[in-house]
Amino acid sequence: MSFTVVAVLASLFFTSPAFGRVPLEQAVAHGILRYGIPRLLDHVTLLIESFTENQQTHKAHWDLMDGILRLLRGRLPIQYWVAVGGQPAAHNLIMVDGNSSFQRFVTGWTLKRYDLAGCYWIVLDDRSAIEDAASYVLGTLWDMRIVTGFIFLEDEKGAVELFSYQPYSASHCGIAKPRQVHWEKDDIFSDRLREFHGCPLKFGTFDNRPYIDLTWDYLGRLSLDGFEGLLVNLIAKNLNFTIDVVIPSDNAMWGYSREDGRSTGLMKLLQDETVDFSASSIGYTIERSKILSTGVTHYNSYIVFAVPSGRAYSSFEKLFLPFLWDTWYAIFGTLVIAIGIIVFMNARTDFVRDLIYGTAIRAPISNLFNVLFGGPMVRCPHLTFARTLLGLWMLYCLVIRAAYQCSLYKYLQVPKNFSAPLTIDAMLAAGLYFYMLDLAAEFFSDNPEVLARTRFVSHANGAFVETINAVGRDELDGAMVCLSDHIGYHNKFYPPEEFVHCSKETICGFPMSIAYPKRTFLKEAFDREIQLIDSSGLVGFWASQLIDMDFYTERKSNAIQQALTVDNLLGAFEILLAMEGVAVLLFLVELATIRLRFVRKILDWAESD
Ligand SMILES: *[C@@H]1O[C@H](CO)[C@@H](O)[C@H](O)[C@H]1NC(C)=O
Repeated sequence: MSFTVVAVLASLFFTSPAFGRVPLEQAVAHGILRYGIPRLLDHVTLLIESFTENQQTHKAHWDLMDGILRLLRGRLPIQYWVAVGGQPAAHNLIMVDGNSSFQRFVTGWTLKRYDLAGCYWIVLDDRSAIEDAASYVLGTLWDMRIVTGFIFLEDEKGAVELFSYQPYSASHCGIAKPRQVHWEKDDIFSDRLREFHGCPLKFGTFDNRPYIDLTWDYLGRLSLDGFEGLLVNLIAKNLNFTIDVVIPSDNAMWGYSREDGRSTGLMKLLQDETVDFSASSIGYTIERSKILSTGVTHYNSYIVFAVPSGRAYSSFEKLFLPFLWDTWYAIFGTLVIAIGIIVFMNARTDFVRDLIYGTAIRAPISNLFNVLFGGPMVRCPHLTFARTLLGLWMLYCLVIRAAYQCSLYKYLQVPKNFSAPLTIDAMLAAGLYFYMLDLAAEFFSDNPEVLARTRFVSHANGAFVETINAVGRDELDGAMVCLSDHIGYHNKFYPPEEFVHCSKETICGFPMSIAYPKRTFLKEAFDREIQLIDSSGLVGFWASQLIDMDFYTERKSNAIQQALTVDNLLGAFEILLAMEGVAVLLFLVELATIRLRFVRKILDWAESD
């Protein structure tokens, strides 16, 4: 019913910008139906409120509301005045009788009760100073970061006029300039934030690779890179705004979020609405959610430890590397058994010994080692059984020796470390310290063992990245808390000798999004763009260009062909020295035998095997 009425009225009166001499209620009902946001009209309750200064206008508002309700009945779900439970009201019709009652609405406005992204229809029945009232009311709405606001006004002659504003246009940026709605023009307010007409938006960030990479060229022009930087660039291109980068002046990186307004760093810029939006691996925490709002997640990461390599093997320890310990046990076992047999045989008759060793063979234990190290046999046994035994032993020694010699060369050259401790328990056992920003301490509030060994990294420029680099160079006696992408970026762009390990235990997942001040008008438009970009997989692609995702393949021990250095061979020299020492000791013992008979007996026995 109301639709036909409205259509007829439109054809009769609405040829000028003003609604003409129709009653206010008809103009309001018509305006809402014609210019309202379709999604709100269909299934969002219209909240009607009245703010008045005196009894007379109060009654007038009741009459007005009566008329509007009659015209809108059946077209919209409508709610009058009662406290709104649950959802904030997105569709609001506010009736005021002057600036001071409008001010009461503004003071009572909260995010809990009203939806910032909603639509606000203000009806002002004050016939004096129309232009002033329009710019005051619309200016206040825009100060509250409300994008969709309309005001109905009646001029002295009783004609109804509708004003609104477009904060970003070809002629101005971020100002609520009242603009009279021309009745004939269709849909002029359909989507106010599709196009920013090249206006600047303030973007709070700081250098945080691989997310944000800020570089200045020699003319002082700033270029924004990193995969979140590229995302912001693309949003700016699609929505046609320019990016005005703001870096926190206190050098506090993300900073603390405090509800009482004493936030620092990026959080302060957002809390004070100094910037319009912000990105730099900003994750969602409860503390932060109290002072800022976040958009859709565009990337998922993890908080982990950047772990240094394990202790390096000493040159002496490297001599044992070619075989696993099991193999060493088997080799030593064989030797012990062989020596055991010889000792046992020595106690047998000459006939048995000749059968096993061969005739006139002296010092069988020396021979055993002689063959093991590849020395020549001066005298060979005659009997077939003895020869067969000797041949088998030589074959065994040949294989073992060849295997050892071949792989020893490789191990001598390459820097080799014990495996890195990749769990918190292993790090604690290895006596590592835990380096982190003080912001990260909250992740360990239920882990006092870690906190007891925590050292805080300064927020100063570059200290964070420098600590990760120090982990890579093995200069730090601890692990660093950071995001897995920080490690991946380091491993991609630093030499393989500075490889940083990533702990297998993750501290927590870290979904990232763009952050906005609590009162923002950008979120919906940005979310729409980000979802389009994200569904194309671009963010992941950009990230993979900057991050080496392989955290577990050791790079340090890739074999390099080069001449052996003294360092490589130090182990052999050490053994030589130790053996010289043993020889001198034995010499002294031999001198002592001149006095001590029983020692001499033992030595005689050993020399004759
Ligand atoms: C972006 O805005 C500028 C300034 O209004 C305008 O000249 C330009 O054509 C716009 N670009 C696009 C792609 O709409």
